[in-house]
Amino acid sequence: MSTAWTSRYAQRTRGIQSSAIRELLKFTQRPEVISFAGGLPASEVFPADRFREACCKVLAEESHVALQYGATEGYEPLREMIARHIARYGIRAKSENVLITSGSQQALDLIGKLFLNPGDRVLVEAPTYLGALQAFNVYGADYLSVPSDDDGLRSDLLEAPLRAGPKFMYVLPNFQNPGGTTLSESRRHDLVSLADKYGIPIVEDDPYGQLRYEGEHLTPLVVLDRENLRRDQGYSIGNVLYLSTFSKTLAPGLRLGWIVAPPEVISKLVQLKQGADLHTSTFVQMVAHEVARDNFLDEHVKLIRRVYRELRDVMLDALTQFFPAEVTWTKPKGGLFLWVTLPAGANAQKLFEAAVRENVAFVPGDCFYAPNGHADLGRRQMRLNFSSPQPEQIKEGVRRLSIAVKQQLESLQPLATVL
Ligand SMILES: Cc1ncc(COP(=O)(O)O)c(C=O)c1O
Repeated sequence: MSTAWTSRYAQRTRGIQSSAIRELLKFTQRPEVISFAGGLPASEVFPADRFREACCKVLAEESHVALQYGATEGYEPLREMIARHIARYGIRAKSENVLITSGSQQALDLIGKLFLNPGDRVLVEAPTYLGALQAFNVYGADYLSVPSDDDGLRSDLLEAPLRAGPKFMYVLPNFQNPGGTTLSESRRHDLVSLADKYGIPIVEDDPYGQLRYEGEHLTPLVVLDRENLRRDQGYSIGNVLYLSTFSKTLAPGLRLGWIVAPPEVISKLVQLKQGADLHTSTFVQMVAHEVARDNFLDEHVKLIRRVYRELRDVMLDALTQFFPAEVTWTKPKGGLFLWVTLPAGANAQKLFEAAVRENVAFVPGDCFYAPNGHADLGRRQMRLNFSSPQPEQIKEGVRRLSIAVKQQLESLQPLATVL
């Protein structure tokens, strides 16, 4: 390898490692492996025909716009559509509050770039989305981790870390990745009022909110935000930046997400995005707009919900059937993941190696914890994805995984007796 380059890497790249999931995905591409490791939507539900028609229409009627450079803020009709769409969840935004990003992953990167100096602290859930840690790590973030349980982030443990003055909190209220948990309505109120009390803004990341399989939609933090409520400008958005994406409702290959923010934050983000990629693909934005219009997206989301709800139920049933009683797991009301906790003494990394021999894969839990973020627990946890395998594969994969789990737990028994 050329040292001319490798000796010149910037300091901020020190300690940055390739994502554990990316490494695992390489392995899971072997056809004999049943993978619960990725976070992939089911490719069967991609509306390919609708995309084909939309591409043809956009190219036939507006190729001069679609193939040209566009505005950094995004394609105006798409921004307007997003503003209309989120209004039904109570988020009062105008199109100028919406910045189109190249996936919500780019939104996380831009937020890191805009707000984080080396050593700044970000308050995160433990566990949290690995991709956010990767995005913030590059800007030298430190972390304050707050544990979560079945009702999401423990708002009763928030006060001390908030007093420590994080730059912002990063929260996933709906069907969290990796935990599958949802922040309860009362905790949403507590969290927003504590944030208000300590003057700490919130980044609300909501890629899965629409993928609810049971129960009622809960109020987004951005709607509860006091600063919003104080504002009387005909649109909301105060102390909360709200992120979402088309990755889980249309297709992740589009790389289309968005940030909803106050106009002054949008203009700063726009400057940073110009340096990153000038703008998100005009063609892709126009195609997505064409696909989503006339209520297609709403109808399509109903289909996705039906398909994923069934897959979730198959996985929950298989876990009940095959897994030993000492193992527990979350029962997500939506999203793509559930989160398994093994008994004390178990080791999910070692389990992963054994699972590989059984041709089944998952993501070990510790990589979802920020440094110093209660990863002890993470060492005996694992994330299982239920959206991409077929129902029979889910049953068979859980059966295979249960063999590896039982073997490991049996090997722990003598130790437990001695202790
Ligand atoms: C919580 C969360 N945020 C952001 C993303 C990034 O999504 P995308 O960049 O595809 O919009 C993901 C992807 O899985 C996610 O789970």
